[in-house]
Amino acid sequence: MQVLLLGASGRIGRRIANELLDRGHGVTGVSRSGTVEGVDDDDFVAVSGDATDPDDVARLATGHDAVASALGPSEDESPDVLTEMLDGVVEGMRRADVDRLVWTGGAGILQVGPDTRLIETEEFPEEWKPLASAAIDAYGHLEEATDLRWTYLAPAALIEPGERTGDYRTATGELVADEDGDSYVSMEDFAVAFADELENENGVHDVLAVGY
Ligand SMILES: NC(=O)c1ccc[n+]([C@@H]2O[C@H](COP(=O)([O-])OP(=O)(O)OC[C@H]3O[C@@H](n4cnc5c(N)ncnc54)[C@H](OP(=O)(O)O)[C@@H]3O)[C@@H](O)[C@H]2O)c1
Repeated sequence: MQVLLLGASGRIGRRIANELLDRGHGVTGVSRSGTVEGVDDDDFVAVSGDATDPDDVARLATGHDAVASALGPSEDESPDVLTEMLDGVVEGMRRADVDRLVWTGGAGILQVGPDTRLIETEEFPEEWKPLASAAIDAYGHLEEATDLRWTYLAPAALIEPGERTGDYRTATGELVADEDGDSYVSMEDFAVAFADELENENGVHDVLAVGY
């Protein structure tokens, strides 16, 4: 599969790029800088583009089988730019006639009880709220794009660089936590889940949570 990966230079994006390349897929990796460290493969091309610009996305997505996103706002930007990115990606994909999208979301949206999302719990760190709530707003826009075959892939509450074990669990709309209530996934295993979702399409039009 030829995948246009937006946010390829990011912490999660680089790992998704390497996972896809290890499986024999071709990856065009997009960031505004156009440089991607830590990914070196004949089937990888790093390009520059702005996800908030539908013309850029359309130009870059043309000829690809799917679009993947590990986009995240820079520290000097408002988290609300995530919604602008989502809108740019969706519109660009429509223009390029590419209809498959896997989007890296946030854990804040996930249910931890019948009427409670993770972001609404007392334990949810105050400093994560602006980004978590921007990720939920972006989901609201994605949900309306029913003409695309999208999946909103949400990491566990904690996702960090770690080991690739190849093991993970998913749940539709619900936080994945272990028996102690800890919700964690390594970025490497999130990348495994991401590539599996691109290949198998188990979560089209779903919020799919990933954890151990
Ligand atoms: N537990 C959780 O819920 C959790 C935890 C961590 C991360 N996340 C989510 O996962 C996503 C990725 O996180 P991360 O830590 O890997 O992010 P990151 O390291 O900050 O990477 C962000 C990537 O997006 C690119 N980018 C930013 N704005 C862009 C634009 N307008 N056009 C094109 N590319 C753009 C950046 O490259 P340039 O700056 O060069 O453009 C970079 O490649 C984020 O949405 C974050 O919210 C969720």
